[in-house]
Amino acid sequence: RRLNGIAAAFYSDQLHSPSGAAVRAYLEGRKISESVVGEFGLGFAPDGWQNLRNHLDQMKESLPLAERAGLLASSERGKQYDRFRRRLMFPIRDISGVIVAFGGRIFGEGEPKYLNSPESEIYRKGEILYGLDRTKDEIRKRDCAVLVEGYFDFLSLWTAGITNVAATLGTALTSRHVDVIRRFSRNVILLFDADEGGLGAAERSLKIFLEGTMNARIALLPEGLDPADFVNASGAEAMRDCLGEARSMVDYYIDRVIGDNSFEGTAASLREAVPFVAGIGDVLQRNLFIHRIAERAGLEESVLKQEVARFEEGKSEFRERPPTPSAGMTAERPDKIEVMLLYLMGECSEKISAIDATGVVDLLTNAEARELARLLVSSPRECSFGDRVNDLPQGALRDELLKLIVEEAFDDLAVADRALDDTVQKIRKRWFDRKLNEVQRNLVLAREHADVDRLMEEKQQLLREKQKVL
Ligand code: UTP
Ligand code: MN
Repeated sequence: RRLNGIAAAFYSDQLHSPSGAAVRAYLEGRKISESVVGEFGLGFAPDGWQNLRNHLDQMKESLPLAERAGLLASSERGKQYDRFRRRLMFPIRDISGVIVAFGGRIFGEGEPKYLNSPESEIYRKGEILYGLDRTKDEIRKRDCAVLVEGYFDFLSLWTAGITNVAATLGTALTSRHVDVIRRFSRNVILLFDADEGGLGAAERSLKIFLEGTMNARIALLPEGLDPADFVNASGAEAMRDCLGEARSMVDYYIDRVIGDNSFEGTAASLREAVPFVAGIGDVLQRNLFIHRIAERAGLEESVLKQEVARFEEGKSEFRERPPTPSAGMTAERPDKIEVMLLYLMGECSEKISAIDATGVVDLLTNAEARELARLLVSSPRECSFGDRVNDLPQGALRDELLKLIVEEAFDDLAVADRALDDTVQKIRKRWFDRKLNEVQRNLVLAREHADVDRLMEEKQQLLREKQKVL
């Protein structure tokens, strides 16, 4: 830490020496004032391999320690040299303001554009946010952090008087970054470059914010601009407007991912949405997402919830395992409506042919119930219903039917009649709903264009039939 301080002073002196004139001019051109240069301790690492090295050596500082701090690197023969050469230097500070690393932007031509100190005992990239030591109070006060990617973005916003900012410095946002920000505010506005890279980074960050139960919004800049360009070209007011119009991540995400409203797009995007939703830590946020995505994709919320639950049960399997074709179509336990239908068939045998005509027997989900119903249809008067039920194997169906018989659910035939219509309709509706649900689920999981077409056709067919009979 002490060596970093010495290095920062050295770089700063270099910037303010005659050899730093061109760099000062460059900073002026980018609208970074002399006072901001001072406040953030910007500096210049001159060209050459030994400038800082010799300076440290003269001060009787330990060169191996400077190497450990990442200020020096060493050749194969063990000779130390300056890591940063011909670079504009940005000291990187921890939350308490101690310099733990540097970022250096090449001055003139050269690669890479930015070089950062390597990780060290005092510098963990996944935790440090540039500028936060200076802006944390403002972030807390405004209860909002603006997150940018670059040094210049940060300094330009600061210069424009927008001081609740921090920068990620080109590394991917981590959950540890989020933990740090959360200490000051749960609200974040992402202000990234308006290009593919920036949007991609924003989207990946959203996921991490969601997992960390933060409220993230995205401010969208005109295409091709980065925050620094924009604030310099359009001014502080325009930047404030842009931040004010930041969109909730829910809207943004749904637009980007579910935006394509074709059914194929929906299926593909839901494959992406399910793992994403599963990663949302906050229950309210998660439900909001499920609600909005379902709405947008024209999908039952319950289907999406079910998919998310499935995903959570075996995360890695989601993409790999093909959907089970008839999941849920064969119920283990006969449900009340099916039992009621059997009871009515048994007690009002004169209704059996009418019931048969509705086709409802084939729609029964419980195999045993279906079998008994078929038997009643094919040989209605062979023996009494009570005896038939008695002959059923021990189990839930037998128990429930016996109970109904004993209770004599209907002694008035008119009531039984209405109950029958009602029961048939319920069974039909439920069958269609299950079937549609299953088709919808397969649509969600479908990968091939041909499958999607076929499933869509099936869905339309089901909807038509449902409308016809219900
Ligand atoms: P950008 O490429 O957007 O740079 O990277 P910038 O900040 O706009 O720089 P100028 O305006 O061209 O000078 C954004 C941030 O990503 C990190 C740096 O922290 C940079 O500020 N980065 C970028 C690197 O660490 N290494 C690189 O090679 C490039
Ligand atoms: Mn940039």
